[in-house]
Amino acid sequence: MGILNIKEKVFGLDATQLKFGQQSLNELSWEIKKFKPKIILLVIDPALKKFNINKKIINQIKVTKIQYKIYQQIKIEPSLDSLEAASEFAKKNKFDLIIAVGGGSTIDTAKVINLIKVCKGEVMDYVNQPIGKGKKPNKKLLPLIAIPTTSGSGSEATTVAVLDIPELKLKTGISHTLLRPSLALVDPELSKSSPSGVTASAGLDVICHAIESYISKPYFLRNKPLTPGDRPPYQGSNPISDIWSLQAIEYSGKYFLRSVINAKDLEAKGFMMLSATLAGIGFGSAGVHIPHACAYPIAGLKHSFRAKGYKTAFVPHGISVFLTAPASFRFTYSSNPKKHIKAAELLKGSPIKNPNKESLPKELIRIMKKINTPTGLKDLGYTKKDLPELISGSFKQQRLLALSPKKVQEKDIKNILEQSMKNW
Ligand SMILES: [Fe+2]
Repeated sequence: MGILNIKEKVFGLDATQLKFGQQSLNELSWEIKKFKPKIILLVIDPALKKFNINKKIINQIKVTKIQYKIYQQIKIEPSLDSLEAASEFAKKNKFDLIIAVGGGSTIDTAKVINLIKVCKGEVMDYVNQPIGKGKKPNKKLLPLIAIPTTSGSGSEATTVAVLDIPELKLKTGISHTLLRPSLALVDPELSKSSPSGVTASAGLDVICHAIESYISKPYFLRNKPLTPGDRPPYQGSNPISDIWSLQAIEYSGKYFLRSVINAKDLEAKGFMMLSATLAGIGFGSAGVHIPHACAYPIAGLKHSFRAKGYKTAFVPHGISVFLTAPASFRFTYSSNPKKHIKAAELLKGSPIKNPNKESLPKELIRIMKKINTPTGLKDLGYTKKDLPELISGSFKQQRLLALSPKKVQEKDIKNILEQSMKNW
């Protein structure tokens, strides 16, 4: 990737087409026809069966009279194995439109199916360097309609697919603008299927996406790329991404706690779904940094923690991200106090008297206490002994750390992780 020795002056927004609203799912057949597919591949989380969501989707597909296939070997937090199995399926089957229905794991799996179907090769060919080969897709992918059922990852609006590699004790991803879904169909009624624990973790992720992207290193502090094709998908905060991120922080402040405390509060859950997509567009343009960089080893190293609302033992992404957020934003405060206070005020829903570097961490901890999250890394089973591995795992995520508004050294990551052992 080429970089010039002058500062960047250009920024932009590539966004997924978005359709939002109650019963927007009823317009799926109309949307499908626009792509004129011959064979549809439906990638769907099998857990949705008990909420009748799969039936609703299949009914919409049947109306179109177009042939379809189903893939439902979805792993929560996709692993290399599960994505390789999905790519084998992609190579052996014919389809020309993909519909993904589920949480981030399902949508990410569909993105990888799409990538391998069109560009061939193996999953590791495309995984970010230095873990994978970092190869770029060389052709336009198939149209992908993403229908989220949780309010978290924002995967329906992003260019990233995340994967867990337990053998290497790390999480990484595939990231390229061509991975972005063609259409996000967001129907709040689908959030009925998500239990409170899942809504909680997903919403914590949304809050971090929105705040991290809002305060990320401004685009004009990055050096200009040699060619437009070399411009990174994560450009740094800019006037367009700020609009999306700010709106997502505001809705999170208003609706997040309601959406967790009352699983039947569809208004709050709907606004959190909208926030997830808005934040996805914001961070898809600006990028996320320290909490997300730390989240990779936090989720990757220990697989014994079991969160509320989940059947298997693992650290849900939102929790792994949020636990280091108070300390991260304490560290980044001096880069732009005004933006940190603005985020704190939007979460609080009112002006803050005597604002200072603790204002934003305080709001984050208030939210954590209200929904009984773990108090810090200690509650996940981490001790001081794990620090070196956590530090090196976080520091490896240079692609993300480059977006921090303040230069991050290893000693800063150490401080952040130490403070995050126990947030209160
Ligand atoms: Fe995230």
